[in-house]
Amino acid sequence: MKKASPAPFSDHLKSEGDVNWSPHRTAWSQQHIGPETRQLLAADEKYFLRQALSTPCLNALQGCEGVCLTDVEDRRIFDFHGNNVHQVGYGNPRVIQAIIKQLQTLPFCPRRYTNQPVVDLARELTELAPGDLNKVLFAPGGTSAIGMALKLARVATGRFKTISMWDSFHGASLDAISIGGEAAFRQGIGPLLPGCEHVPPPDARHCIFGCAGQCNLKCADYIEYVLEKEGDVAAVIAEPVRCTPYIPPLDYWKKVRAACDRHGALLIFDEIPLCLGRTGKMFACEHFDVVPDILVLGKGLGGGVFPLAAMLAREGLDVAADKSLGHYTHEKNPVAAAAGLATLECIIQDQLLANAQTVGAMALARLQSMVGRLSLAGEARGLGLMLGLELQDCGTIQAVDAAERVLYAALSKGLSFKLTMGKIITLTPPLTITAAEMNQALDILEACLSEVEPA
Ligand SMILES: Cc1ncc(COP(=O)(O)O)c(C=O)c1O
Repeated sequence: MKKASPAPFSDHLKSEGDVNWSPHRTAWSQQHIGPETRQLLAADEKYFLRQALSTPCLNALQGCEGVCLTDVEDRRIFDFHGNNVHQVGYGNPRVIQAIIKQLQTLPFCPRRYTNQPVVDLARELTELAPGDLNKVLFAPGGTSAIGMALKLARVATGRFKTISMWDSFHGASLDAISIGGEAAFRQGIGPLLPGCEHVPPPDARHCIFGCAGQCNLKCADYIEYVLEKEGDVAAVIAEPVRCTPYIPPLDYWKKVRAACDRHGALLIFDEIPLCLGRTGKMFACEHFDVVPDILVLGKGLGGGVFPLAAMLAREGLDVAADKSLGHYTHEKNPVAAAAGLATLECIIQDQLLANAQTVGAMALARLQSMVGRLSLAGEARGLGLMLGLELQDCGTIQAVDAAERVLYAALSKGLSFKLTMGKIITLTPPLTITAAEMNQALDILEACLSEVEPA
């Protein structure tokens, strides 16, 4: 039997996950993990199969509330990572109450039946969604919903090819890694789906078309070039705003939308981590005034409690009545739907979109001011509460090494965040965060950057 070996370090630096065996991580663990946690981590390693990016675990939790996690040793940690499920904050009382109430009446709904919460959630999502995205299927997770979108695109167009982006992530199943663009997921796993073309993502800072920071939309032209050359592409699938984060110019998606229409391809937006307000609008595509044919959402839809995702499709795509697109056991789960309804209610009634805009703008301005003052800080980017600070090499210090050191320094001071592409400090707090909490977290970040900064 083949022995499990860690993938090359460099592959993981190009992904959105942690580097689980870095020396900085080991040093942090030795200093901060006590005997009780060590025991739990050892038990975790004993029973769970190891896999890249998520094992071994770093630490163990005993609670979470609002913006914070609490670890087994009672340390509170601002969670600016949260796997993007915590739009309404952890343990949101309205979500928890809705779940309890639903558990006491109808905790499950087998196939053949429907129920009020799922119908209400489907109606509410279609009313909130732009354009005529009026048809819904639920799934027990984002990856599964991506799979449904790929199948629907095949059925609707009679074609099977796709265009997606290098470096993208759409889930870890075989169909999702076929369209995904991260080497860490694609390599060494055998044949992937045929016909999955990849194109460079829009990113003026790392553009391969020579735009030198001033996007000339050549990357959008290239998508049309591939659509034309292939001639039979079913769909272009991408995140409208990549979680790096990189926000394409306003015209980018308009151009791609028009190219799809000219060549008979569907446009599928994966808004799994961004939807429901993270960017300051309910749907990220609203920033670009472009409506996709299919939109996939998930993560926070389950209120940070339940695994729940949805595929929204435009009305004309109700063309697969003789196929099973999802057929998931939990496709009409009333408890998950109750959590989803309570989540939408919180986002709307508590004006979390406005909060994401104002606290996000304040945080972005502060990150931008760090770029002027700290030589490690290369570029600050953001939209709402999807924020990123890209580090740059500085003297003998490499950006990826600095980013790891900043991460573990921040964890020691009670702030957790994600590193993307190895060197982008990615900050995605709950949309409930106050300006004071945001400033507290940015104080920690700035102190950690200053610690790592060359003298
Ligand atoms: C852009 C994107 N698509 C799809 C997925 C997969 O979602 P899930 O983990 O719910 O299956 C993720 C998860 O991180 C994601 O970020």
